Amino acid sequence: MNRKDKLVVALDAGSLKTCALAAEETEGGTLKYLALGRAEAKGWRKGLIVNLEAAAGAIRKAVDEAEQVVGVPIERVVVGLGASQVRGLNSRGGITISSRHREIQREDVRKALEVARTVHLPAECALVHVIPQEYLVDSQDGILDPVGMVCGRLEANVHIVTAAAAAMNNLVAAANRAGLIVAETVLEPLAAAEAVLNSDQRALGVVLVDMGAGSTDVVCFRHGALQHSFTVPIGGEHFTNDIAVGLRTPIPEAEKIKRSFGVATQLLAGENTSIEVPSVGDRPSRLVPQRALADILEPRAQEVLGRVLDELRRAGLDRQMGAGVVFTGGAAKLVGLCDIAEEVMDMPAQIGLPEKLEGAPDSLRHPAYAALIGLLYFAQRVEQRRAESAGMMTRLRAFFAGKN
Ligand SMILES: Nc1ncnc2c1ncn2[C@@H]1O[C@H](COP(=O)(O)OP(=O)(O)OP(=O)(O)O)[C@@H](O)[C@H]1O
Ligand SMILES: [Mg+2]
Repeated sequence: MNRKDKLVVALDAGSLKTCALAAEETEGGTLKYLALGRAEAKGWRKGLIVNLEAAAGAIRKAVDEAEQVVGVPIERVVVGLGASQVRGLNSRGGITISSRHREIQREDVRKALEVARTVHLPAECALVHVIPQEYLVDSQDGILDPVGMVCGRLEANVHIVTAAAAAMNNLVAAANRAGLIVAETVLEPLAAAEAVLNSDQRALGVVLVDMGAGSTDVVCFRHGALQHSFTVPIGGEHFTNDIAVGLRTPIPEAEKIKRSFGVATQLLAGENTSIEVPSVGDRPSRLVPQRALADILEPRAQEVLGRVLDELRRAGLDRQMGAGVVFTGGAAKLVGLCDIAEEVMDMPAQIGLPEKLEGAPDSLRHPAYAALIGLLYFAQRVEQRRAESAGMMTRLRAFFAGKN
């Protein structure tokens, strides 16, 4: 097998950065880091592509950078889908096995899932994922694998993730225009969850909050299965804009101030700490107490976390998240975010760091790369399925060739 056969590539086209991460599968089935290509995102606004050509250019740049290190052309990628009016809904559907009870086959499970996923979607919505939550065998719930059980009726509970069709089509179009085949699109917080959550957290109940630049994307797990997914259209950019307006300073300066001195709660603002704030135009810079900065950031943090909590409440999940909330995305780095989250959401909070990939630089162990690394695991499964079906085709061909 050559490198091209084992190559696994993830693409995260966020509103701040566009990244292509390449790895290869080792003999042992683990992933080994090869390269990271990075480009400034272009052609995006509020988490959506507004200029296809520019977005495609940024993707191409990131992929070119990775290709130079990998040494072979990158053809197929798994792409992350963020923001874009993501909506999750739960659905149930099933089939009658037979009047006389018999053993459930794989094909029965496939049919039950097919019925469960049949929901009416408006034309502007695209189906992104159908994820099985549990099966019900003659109304007995909580079954994860019903194959081999004996019953008369099999039902499936599934979580269906939909997104704005235009957003999804534009993302795929931008990748195609950059010369790539999109093997799969994966909801970004779902990818982030893959990189930072363990099975105990998913069993106990956990909210994963991926706070990027343009939006905050959320997925929720319980009993080991995805229960809810949604987006709050507020991200790190909004915090930066608030600072720029509140302290009357240019956006790039506001961004620097946020990263160096920003705190999400008054409690962490230094009593006597002052920050030098450059003014707009020719005016001299001013000294502003850190408390004034916290005054700006705290209400924004409360707003976004409050909206996440409202959505959990609406879904009846707010009291069921035993493992609390885990933050990923660049904006998770805001100092004090976990403190304010524990206060607003009344659950334990922590930052989710992706597991280290073999051979990867330490800089990749950052919450902003959680979705990208998670996408790589999805890409690995896509490549494994491709290899399996290619192997099957080869065996079939050999079989028929032998017959002649
Ligand atoms: N130390 C820090 N403190 C506060 N915010 C930070 C820090 N570092 C990065 N951020 C913020 O993180 C955001 C970028 O996060 P990320 O890299 O996850 O975005 P993205 O994936 O490109 O965006 P999106 O997912 O919304 O499309 C920016 O708004 C940036 O200001
Ligand atoms: Mg992102």
